[in-house]
Amino acid sequence: MAVLEILKYPAPALRRKCLPVERVTEQTAELARAMLATMHDAPGVGLAAPQVGENVRLIVVDVSVGKDPKQVHFLVNPEIESASGERIVEEACLSLPGVSEKIRRREAVRVRALNLDGEEVVLDAREVLAFVLQHEIDHLDGKLILDHLNKTKRDLVKRRLKKQARAAS
Ligand code: NI
Repeated sequence: MAVLEILKYPAPALRRKCLPVERVTEQTAELARAMLATMHDAPGVGLAAPQVGENVRLIVVDVSVGKDPKQVHFLVNPEIESASGERIVEEACLSLPGVSEKIRRREAVRVRALNLDGEEVVLDAREVLAFVLQHEIDHLDGKLILDHLNKTKRDLVKRRLKKQARAAS
């Protein structure tokens, strides 16, 4: 399975609001599998379609990082239906190299989505899985860890990332 390029901040694709998947097709499944391979290769615990330049509401999550196939979730058009509790969590992102910041997340979420067969699924998640789901669903609305920081911190991290991106190009 081919590994896709993961876009890094400030790639414009990371800031777009993604479009719902109208119909789950073999093409959707192919993209999802390529995203899983890319995420495992990185390695990471979650990946959203805009991170590979696809403007659609599709995320892949595996908090076991390839160790347990039962923990792989392909979610199409995921939505947080309800949430409870709060936690301060340290998060990183494959599109924000070197960034690791403490942000506020809900402790538990119920997510409704479609699977790759186009069937509706409901996922009740707590802690790590819940945090990853919130992070990936944020991506579908063009939202990054940065947007959870206060302005001073955000500007600092943005400057650092832009400098890094310039140095790499
Ligand atoms: Ni991310």
